Amino acid sequence: MDAIRSPSVGELSGRDQAKTRALAERLGSSAQRGIFAEAVEFGDVVLVAVLHSAVADVLSTAGAEDEALRRKVLTDCTNAVVSDRFVLDLPAGTSMPEQLAAQAVGAHVVKAFNTCHESVWRLASPAFDGRPLIVPLCGDDPDAVATVRSLVTDIGCEPAEGGRLERAALLEATTAFLIGLWFGGVDTQAMLPPHKYATGA
Ligand SMILES: NC(=O)c1ccc[n+]([C@@H]2O[C@H](COP(=O)([O-])OP(=O)(O)OC[C@H]3O[C@@H](n4cnc5c(N)ncnc54)[C@H](OP(=O)(O)O)[C@@H]3O)[C@@H](O)[C@H]2O)c1
Repeated sequence: MDAIRSPSVGELSGRDQAKTRALAERLGSSAQRGIFAEAVEFGDVVLVAVLHSAVADVLSTAGAEDEALRRKVLTDCTNAVVSDRFVLDLPAGTSMPEQLAAQAVGAHVVKAFNTCHESVWRLASPAFDGRPLIVPLCGDDPDAVATVRSLVTDIGCEPAEGGRLERAALLEATTAFLIGLWFGGVDTQAMLPPHKYATGA
């Protein structure tokens, strides 16, 4: 569990207390820290930002199967990508947030913040070539999506409705493909035409 930028009120957790303490200090005095279960209990919104293969264990430790996340907005920014092949490390036909939703009883899962390097979220206001960065979101619960949408605008970005959680697999696959291109040196910003050409000018 982690924070994106310095939260006005937030709690951080990690398996390594020294690292968690260092991050809390870097984020400022308002960032508290605790064990996973405490971080989950603390707020209405939980961001899970650990290695994808560790997510299930971390959520279990936090009490996900025992409804610790009931009614919470569980935001998933993970990229389950095999690092040297840039393919998804997931069974076909599923996605990380759908797995989280199946595990975390009663949680409202939203996929978001997975399309950029974490350094982007630390910019004062992520805008490039004069345009705010677009952050796609996928989720089933409208209130949870609205909450994450407001977090996106809070950091100066623009949310884009990606649809229900069933479409998160597309977002994850798109991101995995982009990561492969980035590591190959491709400037993917130049990959897409302006919107007016999207459906035929
Ligand atoms: N880095 C980015 O720019 C970026 C961008 C988009 C999405 N993401 C996603 O965000 C997540 C975190 O990314 P990352 O860059 O920090 O690197 P990472 O190598 O994918 O994950 C390392 C993090 O996972 C934790 N972790 C690993 N195994 C764990 C376990 N068994 N139990 C508890 N925690 C465990 C590590 O804790 P320790 O510090 O204790 O080792 C560390 O905080 C990943 O899912 C990644 O796909 C990252």
